[in-house]
Amino acid sequence: MDRDFEALRGQFPLLARKTYLNSGSYCALANSVRAAFEAYLEDRLLVGANWDVWVTKNESVRSLVATLLRAAPDEIAVTASVSAGLNALASALQFSGPRTKVIVSDFEFPTNAQIWHAQEPRGARVVHVPRAADGYIPLEAFEKAIDERTQLVAVTHVCFRNGAKLDIAGIVRLARARGAKVLLDCYQSVGSIDIDVKALDVDFAAGGMLKYLLGTAGIGFLYVRDAFVKSLVPTNSGWFAQENIAAMDITANRPSPTARRFEAGTPAVVNSYAAEAGLKLLLEVGTAAIEKRVYSLTRRCMRRLEEIGWPSITPVQDERRGATVAVPSRDSAQLCAELLKRDIVTSHRDDNARASFHFYNNEDDVEALIAAMKELRGKLAP
Ligand SMILES: Cc1ncc(COP(=O)(O)O)c(C=O)c1O
Repeated sequence: MDRDFEALRGQFPLLARKTYLNSGSYCALANSVRAAFEAYLEDRLLVGANWDVWVTKNESVRSLVATLLRAAPDEIAVTASVSAGLNALASALQFSGPRTKVIVSDFEFPTNAQIWHAQEPRGARVVHVPRAADGYIPLEAFEKAIDERTQLVAVTHVCFRNGAKLDIAGIVRLARARGAKVLLDCYQSVGSIDIDVKALDVDFAAGGMLKYLLGTAGIGFLYVRDAFVKSLVPTNSGWFAQENIAAMDITANRPSPTARRFEAGTPAVVNSYAAEAGLKLLLEVGTAAIEKRVYSLTRRCMRRLEEIGWPSITPVQDERRGATVAVPSRDSAQLCAELLKRDIVTSHRDDNARASFHFYNNEDDVEALIAAMKELRGKLAP
């Protein structure tokens, strides 16, 4: 069914004021998410400690994330951030046996490299897969790196710097053939690209709510394949990770039989209100329809950039690209500042300005960006 994307734009008041191309950094706020924040405040004002409801909010987030990823709720930990989920996972892995290698790529967000380097005193050996001369990381580069000593391949889905998307199905095939596990950092893709963790066959996946999931900072998720939930015991733990939270037992660590064992302390209650509302809206719109829309917008944006003689560095092939289009500049901070003066919100990393698209963007947003870039080309193109 075709979605009425123009009508959906009306649910994001910011879009009436700005050309908002920054969802890869932080999403625009929907009215329903604002109402969820307000509902939390009402609870605090009028009920006080509404724990019975608060616990259901966290469980609702868990099952909505499970629906989104096509996983089971028992395979989802609701975490404070991607970093919190990765730390809990790392704490459950051993690096003393024959498999000590962790493979990361040149495209990683820092946290998905730093946390694995932090395991080096425990015996981990972190290997970086380099990008090729054309800026992409082909499957052959992973083929060279993954071997019988590899425990984990920890890779991003879409690169936060340049918008390139890795061949996750290919990486999983290589890892399986050599007995390694795969962790997908899907923070730059989830919500803009349809993700089925079972079809992708990854073992772990981590993401958060403040980008394409329409929620807020301070809440994320870790998916752990059911086969590993019971065999992995995190040493990074807490009372909300226990089998019976209410037991208040101080004599032992009794981890939950579900992925909740990767959680820690009191959930971020206000964040779960916002995350629940964001996920509900996203699932109503539908990730398949969103993906189609986002690809149509990024394709158009890249074609128009070519036409004005300021091409992006993001791969042109759909299968190698996510929701972000990265444009090189001799001063990317200045470029973003100039765009902002024209009410166009982007962000910058390295030498690139990043325009990231969601379902609430439209063709007029592309044209607004192009008109501004045309004006700024002489001063700020590389
Ligand atoms: C791909 C990716 N991974 C991880 C993170 C960091 O996540 P967190 O701050 O929730 O640990 C980000 C944040 O921008 C990201 O883009």
